[in-house]
Amino acid sequence: MSEQFDAVDIIRIKRDRGTLSPAQIDWTIDAYTRGAIADEQMAALNMAILLNGMDRPEISRWTAAMIASGERMDFSALGKPTSDKHSTGGVGDKITLPLAPLVAVFGVAVPQLSGRGLGHTGGTLDKLESISGWRAQLSNDEMMAQLADVGAVICAAGAGLAPADKKLYALRDVTGTVEAIPLIASSIMSKKIAEGTGSLVLDVKVGSGAFMKDEAQARELAETMVALGTDAGVKTAALLTNMSTPLGLTAGNAIEVEESVEVLAGGGPQDVVELTVRLAEEMLEAAGVRDADPARALQDGRAMDVWNRMIEAQGGDPRAELPVAKESETVFAPADGVLVELDALSVGVAAWRLGAGRARKEDAVQAGAGVRLHAKPGAVVRAGEPLMTLLTDTPEKFDRAREALETAVVIAPEGARPAQQLIIDRIA
Ligand code: URA
Repeated sequence: MSEQFDAVDIIRIKRDRGTLSPAQIDWTIDAYTRGAIADEQMAALNMAILLNGMDRPEISRWTAAMIASGERMDFSALGKPTSDKHSTGGVGDKITLPLAPLVAVFGVAVPQLSGRGLGHTGGTLDKLESISGWRAQLSNDEMMAQLADVGAVICAAGAGLAPADKKLYALRDVTGTVEAIPLIASSIMSKKIAEGTGSLVLDVKVGSGAFMKDEAQARELAETMVALGTDAGVKTAALLTNMSTPLGLTAGNAIEVEESVEVLAGGGPQDVVELTVRLAEEMLEAAGVRDADPARALQDGRAMDVWNRMIEAQGGDPRAELPVAKESETVFAPADGVLVELDALSVGVAAWRLGAGRARKEDAVQAGAGVRLHAKPGAVVRAGEPLMTLLTDTPEKFDRAREALETAVVIAPEGARPAQQLIIDRIA
């Protein structure tokens, strides 16, 4: 079949800082998905996009072309509003677990398609798979039935959703081109728009443990994604939130489920509760629900009831004991003072090296592995006091995990105050 364009011409346009036409973009995504553009050509184009950027109409068309590469889900038959949350990923970010059932309490359906972890950021599906029997793969019909019955579902995206993105993301992952804002924004938003949610709240992380290390970049990503969502008819808002230190007191799989259940039982760390409640308020507002009190639904057991039903509907036993790591080691405070820094990236890398994360997609994760924190920035600590517990089934991993933590902790004289603000801004 003769092709409409030549891949080399398309690469040259972006290399020379030009603008791709809608027809060129449509062809590029379609030709790559069906194998008419080779991986090395797409890698070169991705790098040109990373270096030279894309304008808003180009990003919008690129996103639309990725949506058109697969199926588009439709929840209108449910007869209730739908809302979803996407986080750009961080360390200890277990918010989806309490958030999805919490929002469903108020009659909003939450179709939460989630992923697995790669590198130092954890994946929601890996965490939930530490619950005995729980199943991540659901058919579209099963998903629809669970949304009608329970109101919330957290599951893997089916292969039919934005297949162009699956191929493109795998290529970006091995060619140093993940960090391009047009490519991240279109990748995330193509999946969220194809998923068919009516409204969307984005949690764009800023800081060492996030994709975006500085606020200006995170802001640009958030603004780009909000514009893409809004243009596609999805009511979209974003929060910029701090990821310079881990969220909550756990980074791992089973230990993050345990902490999420504490939040659903009305307890849990203050930062996890604050972000869960704030995101719930945003999702409910976007879905048109007024006068809801999500903080109360955590206290009075309504969110926990939906959680239990959501886990059971996917074959899990919410009351089963969670796996526990076979071995543990303690990291102690090196001095007296105030803990002013506990670096998210270092803790994420340590948890990953302990076995909580994977280096390659096909690797297995250890359910019990991870890092438990005993103090957060702002806490007064004494030399020799436990700061963290490292958990793994494979003790030979302790040394490399400790190496990752060598510069993670900064303790200042008492009276010092860490600069920490969990919710930095809202973009809509
Ligand atoms: N998550 C995605 O789904 N895509 C990206 O490009 C980055 C993070």
